[in-house]
Amino acid sequence: MRKPLIAGNWKMYKTSDQAVKLTAGIKAALKGFEGVDVVLCPPFTVLSTVYNIISDIDIQLGAQDLYWEKEGAFTGEISPIMLKDCGCEFVISGHSERRKYFSETNEIINKKVKAALDVGLKPICCVGETLEEREAGKTIDVIKTQLTGCLAGFEIGDALNLIIAYEPVWAIGTGKNATAAQAQEVHKFIRTWIAENFSQGVANSLRILYGGSVKPANIKELMNEEDVDGALVGGASLEASSFVEIVKNSI
Ligand code: 13P
Repeated sequence: MRKPLIAGNWKMYKTSDQAVKLTAGIKAALKGFEGVDVVLCPPFTVLSTVYNIISDIDIQLGAQDLYWEKEGAFTGEISPIMLKDCGCEFVISGHSERRKYFSETNEIINKKVKAALDVGLKPICCVGETLEEREAGKTIDVIKTQLTGCLAGFEIGDALNLIIAYEPVWAIGTGKNATAAQAQEVHKFIRTWIAENFSQGVANSLRILYGGSVKPANIKELMNEEDVDGALVGGASLEASSFVEIVKNSI
């Protein structure tokens, strides 16, 4: 049985005052709530601020990105150890916005996922096709290429700590989510690919999140699908009320 996981990706939103307010709202509303792993992924600047609020409750911290070196002269970058130091347990890697605006390739994402695993962070590795690719019937090929590149050289032990997020690019921030059936088709493919490339045991325990216009109104339907184990939520994670409703509606 895979425990549902709902992660909020705040992207480049929230100053410290705003982050405190949002986190406190989520904490108050989820006090005593069980059965779902909840992860907040705020910007780097408020990681410690958020951690100080959630450290005494069962809500985990995640970062939105990392660099693969442990330390060094890499101006502007943040290492996996620094993320652990701020209280992170999770880190998003390969988000489509990083692929699109910062030219991240599968090779770069591979290094980041590996670096995260090396220090005991749980990477949430994102894959997903563009609208053009979907319309050309290339969705499964694109996902396969991304999985092959991002997870190259990994062992079964690595895969046990991995989370995959399927985020169709055309569904991100558009208000147009993938249907439950569209999500299930890709999630099932991902699980089968993991079984073939790692093991059936890893595939059975690996959590696959859906991301792209997840809202309180559509989470139930998505979660009803056999291979949808949670969600990576963007816009709706920026308000405590909508994020909490998504968490509560996910089981
Ligand atoms: P939205 O929920 O705003 O569509 O964003 C999804 C996303 O990119 C989460 O990482």
